[in-house]
Amino acid sequence: MTKRILVVGARGLIGSEAASALEAAGHEVIRASRSSGEHVDLTDPASIEALFERIGDVDAVVSTTGVVAFKPFTELTLDDFRDGVADKALGQIALVTLGAAHVRDGGSFTLTSGVLSAEPIETGAAASVANGALDSFAIAAAVGLPRGIRINTVSPSVIAEATGYHSSFPGFPQTPVAEAARAVVRSVDGVETGQIFSV
Ligand SMILES: NC(=O)c1ccc[n+]([C@@H]2O[C@H](COP(=O)([O-])OP(=O)(O)OC[C@H]3O[C@@H](n4cnc5c(N)ncnc54)[C@H](OP(=O)(O)O)[C@@H]3O)[C@@H](O)[C@H]2O)c1
Repeated sequence: MTKRILVVGARGLIGSEAASALEAAGHEVIRASRSSGEHVDLTDPASIEALFERIGDVDAVVSTTGVVAFKPFTELTLDDFRDGVADKALGQIALVTLGAAHVRDGGSFTLTSGVLSAEPIETGAAASVANGALDSFAIAAAVGLPRGIRINTVSPSVIAEATGYHSSFPGFPQTPVAEAARAVVRSVDGVETGQIFSV
């Protein structure tokens, strides 16, 4: 069945690959972000509501967004933690809480967290907190979302194509972006819910 799928962050590294993989699976993809495609800023609830007003109901929502500060632990300020949670975690959580009414029965949400929720690096504490919040949110929301709507997170290791991050992740497995996109397709087209897909 062809699904109508909103991908927020579709201009980004993971989002563009995920959007293409979903189209290759036969789905209709609506691309959104702050600066290309349908406009939305996940830190602004009114812009999420305006987006759904414009595009109408969908079968699935995918988010691959999130801006978080990377700094040594002793340089991270409380504002860095607050900003990371506000952008990456609460932004994606807002997409679910405000978007659920616009997702059809049996639809799904797929959010993006990351390996740092469970495995630390020197500069990653703010990202760890945001990622952990998202994984916990998905576990909890899976039992609360109505009408058979599912939710999962995709939690990648550092992406092979994201070379700028490699030195911050010494010895970590590097995930080809295509593998992260496959996990998105699994979340959208599969039957699982409340899962953290570690790739
Ligand atoms: N790259 C990695 O190695 C890696 C590894 C593990 C986890 N992750 C996580 O995966 C996610 C995506 O990473 P990426 O490397 O693909 O990032 P990216 O290339 O920077 O793409 C992020 C996308 O999100 C959009 N975006 C950012 N903030 C937004 C907001 N507030 N509202 C709406 N759209 C917003 C950006 O477009 P606009 O600027 O136009 O809004 C862009 O399309 C992030 O959460 C990241 O932490 C990445």
